[in-house]
Amino acid sequence: MQPPSFDQRHLLGIEPLHPHEITAILDLAETYVALNRQTEKHSDALAGLTQVNMFFENSTRTQASFELAGKRLGADVMNMAMQASSIKKGETLIDTAMTLNAMHPDLLVVRHPHSGAVDLLAQKVHCAVLNAGDGRHEHPTQALLDALTIRRAKGRLHRLNIAICGDIAHSRVARSNLILLGKMENRIRLIGPPTLVPQQFAEFGAEIYDDMREGLKDVDVVMMLRLQKERMDGGFIPSEREYFYRYGLDADKLALAKPDAIVMHPGPMNRGVEIDGTIADDIKRSVIQEQVEMGVAVRMAAMDLLARNLRRARQAEAR
Ligand code: NCD
Repeated sequence: MQPPSFDQRHLLGIEPLHPHEITAILDLAETYVALNRQTEKHSDALAGLTQVNMFFENSTRTQASFELAGKRLGADVMNMAMQASSIKKGETLIDTAMTLNAMHPDLLVVRHPHSGAVDLLAQKVHCAVLNAGDGRHEHPTQALLDALTIRRAKGRLHRLNIAICGDIAHSRVARSNLILLGKMENRIRLIGPPTLVPQQFAEFGAEIYDDMREGLKDVDVVMMLRLQKERMDGGFIPSEREYFYRYGLDADKLALAKPDAIVMHPGPMNRGVEIDGTIADDIKRSVIQEQVEMGVAVRMAAMDLLARNLRRARQAEAR
């Protein structure tokens, strides 16, 4: 079999990826979906390598997913719980990089509240870096797991009508998805109140709707986003009740999408704010659990491909 064509040193965002690299990750992830469904789930793709997870911002599912992915591939995985208070200056981050280098990690998974902080770290450390979400910038593995979920549910990842709904302004998930789904030639609609859907997102080639009923007409995929209250410093919505009435996904609004449209949410969900609990739990429409499953597989694939490139680069250096 031809080695998959994936030529990156780090996974910092979707922006630098070619469509064929996206496909390479998703194709390899399929093999890990199959592995993860077996009783014996072990591979030694990362055996001998050290994976460090550094989360400067709280996370449960993403951190757990990366941890499980590394362990299933045989890496030595360490979680470093970084308190948000320990990052005040750029220098602190560089000091962190120096400390890390002395520990010789091979894969570094970083989540950080500041956009760009993960890129900065990647310039300073001697290992492969995966961005697990930086500020409002990117969250590449989330977009990849969403892509895999869509591809499996719809049988393809192009020429679909996809609605991304809600708090676009504060969302790295929306940004990474917009870039990925655009690269794969889908038609994207962004739906939400003008305070949460900045007009400049039209630059990505998306259509913007503030009327959700209008925007959901005939879509194949409805991607809901969490109202990111922790990132809001002013009043972006009149009230949560009003928000649910206008932009919450309920059965009435979902009826406007295609009859086989799928419902997605990256989690954690605010039930009754952006999504009705019964829709989230409706296994005929909601693929929210599949998203979690695909997350582990996609992270295994991404780390496997980066580790291959890392080994190759180090061998070349040693020669
Ligand atoms: C997302 C994130 O952290 O950006 N969640 C996640 O990765 N599970 C989305 C969110 O927090 O709403």
